[in-house]
Amino acid sequence: MRCSVIALPVLAAATSVVARAPSPGEDGKYTISSKGIKAQFIPYGATLTNLFVKDKNGEDVDVVLGYDDLDYYPVDKGHPVYNSIPGRYVNRIGKGTYTINNTTYITELNDGTNTLHSGTNNWSYRVWNVTDLTEDSITFSVYDASNSSRGMLGDVEGEVTYSVKGSTWNIKMNAKSLDEKTPLMLTQHTYFNLDAYKNPDTVKIWNHTLYMPYSQRYLVADDGALPTGEIGTAAPLSINDFASQPDLYLGHAQNDPRFAGNCGGGGACEGYNGYFLIDDAPKDAVVVSLASAFSGIKADLRTDQPGVVIYSCNWMDGTPDLKSTQGTAENRKVVRSSCVAIEAQDYVDGINHPEWGRLDKQISGPGQKYSWESSWTFGNL
Ligand SMILES: *[C@@H]1O[C@H](CO)[C@@H](O)[C@H](O)[C@H]1NC(C)=O
Ligand SMILES: *[C@@H]1O[C@H](CO)[C@@H](O)[C@H](O)[C@H]1NC(C)=O
Ligand SMILES: *[C@@H]1O[C@H](CO)[C@@H](O)[C@H](O)[C@H]1NC(C)=O
Ligand SMILES: *[C@@H]1O[C@H](CO)[C@@H](O)[C@H](O)[C@H]1NC(C)=O
Ligand SMILES: *[C@@H]1O[C@H](CO)[C@@H](O)[C@H](O)[C@H]1NC(C)=O
Ligand SMILES: *[C@@H]1O[C@H](CO)[C@@H](O)[C@H](O)[C@H]1NC(C)=O
Repeated sequence: MRCSVIALPVLAAATSVVARAPSPGEDGKYTISSKGIKAQFIPYGATLTNLFVKDKNGEDVDVVLGYDDLDYYPVDKGHPVYNSIPGRYVNRIGKGTYTINNTTYITELNDGTNTLHSGTNNWSYRVWNVTDLTEDSITFSVYDASNSSRGMLGDVEGEVTYSVKGSTWNIKMNAKSLDEKTPLMLTQHTYFNLDAYKNPDTVKIWNHTLYMPYSQRYLVADDGALPTGEIGTAAPLSINDFASQPDLYLGHAQNDPRFAGNCGGGGACEGYNGYFLIDDAPKDAVVVSLASAFSGIKADLRTDQPGVVIYSCNWMDGTPDLKSTQGTAENRKVVRSSCVAIEAQDYVDGINHPEWGRLDKQISGPGQKYSWESSWTFGNL
């Protein structure tokens, strides 16, 4: 007995050496790769900084937005939640309030009259822990103490694992609330430009095609991109239609007078910043296909989520720098409407719309397990 007690500290020390957090490469990034993909990450926001996939000529193209300067992510005033994990409750909470079991909670108004991405202590602003690293996968974890996102009570543990296999990038998240019922809803918030801003004719996203065969329905939103409660159905070729045919450009409705204000902002938000429902998709079906003829790259999304937010980068104002892997001598900045964020998630503000039947999915408590899974498969046109 005595002997084993004495031996314990030695064992513990040995274990802690083995379990030491993995270190990044000399460039400060964690790199994972497979035959078709190289993906790089940083702990800040569990952020994907670079994603190299093959274009139609077999060349590597970095298809996601980001910065070369890793120190810039935390100080970037625009903070577009570049390819990170916002949480614990993604997207908007209408009027900064929600109710669980007859108790009303007040959250922080950081987006006009609403809460966006859980307010100013959101997960995309935290330095996550790296808990596992292999050649083709990395796991980050976050511990979110009660009320550190104001108005969201109970401690929450979250984890994301990114892995690559062949030409597919997989993303799996798990989370649990340890001691209270709390809002819990996550997404992976990646911004794409499949031409890496190298198309000399246009850096705008409008010439990418978008196909969402199961997403005829969408949440109608007000001027602040908050769902009104109404669910719309897009008629073929109308402004919010990306379901009726596979080759519709993201800019197919550019000549529609409503396009200039289709995502609110007092009529100043052009394009898209809204939620499309995924209805009756067979298991493992491709639910979103984004493609560009210039690079010949096609990106196919599969997800276990019931919908997806499409945001066409209206609020990018031309100040953010492009990475050195992107752009041309002339194109060095992220200009308006030059990218698209595609975010698989549950119904936006479903916590305030019991009529949608999402409360069980968006509120989680002790003993329950939240999970989220998506993948992107890259190919050529
Ligand atoms: C809701 O309130 C009831 C009555 O106070 C309580 O029994 C129940 O445990 C509460 N449920 C949750 C999920 O907190
Ligand atoms: C919530 O309030 C309603 C209306 O006052 C009441 O009928 C219900 O029992 C309450 N539920 C809980 C869990 O306390
Ligand atoms: C997230 O938190 C940071 C740091 O507190 C804050 O500056 C930022 O505005 C927040 N983001 C959003 C979208 O609220
Ligand atoms: C990282 O792990 C340390 C040690 O367990 C913990 O104190 C810290 O809160 C963790 N950081 C995050 C962001 O969860
Ligand atoms: C949560 O934090 C806010 C300030 O950020 C405070 O006003 C509120 O009382 C806190 N709530 C609880 C239950 O501690
Ligand atoms: C966009 O695509 C259309 C159809 O292929 C083509 O006619 C047009 O030239 C393209 N525009 C730009 C700016 O690349």
